[in-house]
Amino acid sequence: MCGIVGYVGSQSALDVVMAGLKRLEYRGYDSAGVAVLADGGLATAKRAGKLVNLDKELSEHPLPSAATGIGHTRWATHGGPTDANAHPHLDNAGRVAVVHNGIIENFAPLRAELAERGHELPSETDTEVVAHLLAEEYSACADLAEAMRLVCRRLEGAFTLVAVHADAPDVVVGARRNSPLVVGVGEGEYFLASDVAAFIAHTRDAVELGQDQVVELRRDEGVSVTAFDGTPADVRSYHVDWDASAAEKAGYASFMLKEIAEQPKAVADTLLGRVDGSGTLSLDEVRIPAGVLREVDKVVVVACGTAYHAGLIAKYAIEHWTRIPCEVELASEFRYRDPILDQQTLVVAISQSGETMDTLMALRHAREQGARVLAICNTNGSTIPRESDAVLYTHAGPEVAVASTKAFLTQLVACYLVALYLGQVRGTKYGDEIGDVVRDLSGISGAVERVLGTMDPVRELARSLAHKNTVLFLGRHVGHPVALEGALKLKELAYMHAEGFAAGELKHGPIALIEEDLPVVVVVPSPRGRSILHDKIVSNIQEIRARGARTIVIAEEGDEAVVPYADHLVRVPATPTLLQPLVATVPLQVFACELATARGNEVDQPRNLAKSVTVE
Ligand code: F6R
Repeated sequence: MCGIVGYVGSQSALDVVMAGLKRLEYRGYDSAGVAVLADGGLATAKRAGKLVNLDKELSEHPLPSAATGIGHTRWATHGGPTDANAHPHLDNAGRVAVVHNGIIENFAPLRAELAERGHELPSETDTEVVAHLLAEEYSACADLAEAMRLVCRRLEGAFTLVAVHADAPDVVVGARRNSPLVVGVGEGEYFLASDVAAFIAHTRDAVELGQDQVVELRRDEGVSVTAFDGTPADVRSYHVDWDASAAEKAGYASFMLKEIAEQPKAVADTLLGRVDGSGTLSLDEVRIPAGVLREVDKVVVVACGTAYHAGLIAKYAIEHWTRIPCEVELASEFRYRDPILDQQTLVVAISQSGETMDTLMALRHAREQGARVLAICNTNGSTIPRESDAVLYTHAGPEVAVASTKAFLTQLVACYLVALYLGQVRGTKYGDEIGDVVRDLSGISGAVERVLGTMDPVRELARSLAHKNTVLFLGRHVGHPVALEGALKLKELAYMHAEGFAAGELKHGPIALIEEDLPVVVVVPSPRGRSILHDKIVSNIQEIRARGARTIVIAEEGDEAVVPYADHLVRVPATPTLLQPLVATVPLQVFACELATARGNEVDQPRNLAKSVTVE
């Protein structure tokens, strides 16, 4: 939530910062603003609404040219999305500018204290206090990094802060606690951003920042990092393995469409290099000793939203392949119910961004209780993998659209790999069985490609349903989380009432919702394998159709039993039952994207949402 950019170098700071904000707009789009250091002073511009409003303001009232600057795109927490509440925030003398992501929990007493000392704080934000405190500290020490350290020691909550001071024109300072910030290192130029996407067009060399650290970027001297108490910190540099083109739309009308289309590659990339020549799974990043994994007596998956749905599917694979009990918990609920955890519990934290605060808090709680944490994550260098005992990276590449698509499919692949790996280590799966599943997984990329090639009727159907108020989704077994995911996509993109149900639950209440011509999407499991499941869901389809529902049936190729009851039939390639979510989810993504577009919604930036949810 909120995107932050800082720059010092020799290019136009405004151009670099605005281009960076464009890349970070997925993090929040309630308002945006910039500040540059020019002619011995600060020049700022900010506007409520999306970045285009700021762009317009800047073309009408250009800022002076400058080589140091900061910028912000906001997801509002304290104070509505107005010009006055937009960042950057300044001190009363207009010498310090600050941008902020997160929440400063003790801002009220700090504000009262500042007001007592004669400061005027015109905005409703928690951020503004930081600009005033920084100005006070700087006037005493004339060192912006030291001023930032002193201020941070007084702040409670989660924050990323980036600041500049008019008296230090070649310096940008940043700080982080429980909120993301990365450093980009170019040739004689340096960047700060919430996400590497903001500077990937300039450099792929990055530096991770740890918790409670302050970073100082100086045009001539480079990057220095200290803890809040001033102790020099070790820095970890890394090279980003994707480039600027991966963060572009590449001719697609939206990032979401591009990311849906990228799924075959994302799935294949996530499998790449995970199996050695002898067919043994080798998850190098999973640095939890085999002996420890053999002792695991319970797996708990924690995640939010779409990642939680991946976890619900993981449960089926983990329990089936390893016979270890597996619980799946919404990360936001996890630590509040005092879960039973010990050294034999393996917690799997799934997160695309690696920054979701609810998931981060859940994993910290788990580690405090002695559990081992394995992260499944798409973002190198992010907080969740850094704070976990081990990580399995998904290789989806940058996911920019707010609604998660390719990350979900790769999370599923990673979950299957973790389940198989546990089976391998514990001996509950023989090598040839693992080899069979890996072969099936290798075929998924092509299967998803085939699904994508047959989506025209799904798009046409979605457009024809754009006027509807409600769509229901049903599934059984692993099809149930798929139904939940289909409903979530439709809610967040089309702003429609959409609900997913376990098909067997329908008769216990929700069937009362069925009325004439109500669209109901049904995810049908394979008739091969668990045929009992299939037969049950065919009965469920008949029950709702008898009550007037318009049935949209997703079934594997060759499943003829569903044909008489399907008003619309969507075919997906046959897969083993456990792997079906990898193909069955894709039509639901396409359906939601097309329906939302037909309703005139912006699919990449749905209202009220932000991609990376860094507040609890
Ligand atoms: C929905 C969506 C969200 C995220 C959730 C977790 O399309 O994208 O529900 O899945 O906010 O985010 P990560 O995976 O970054 O922890």
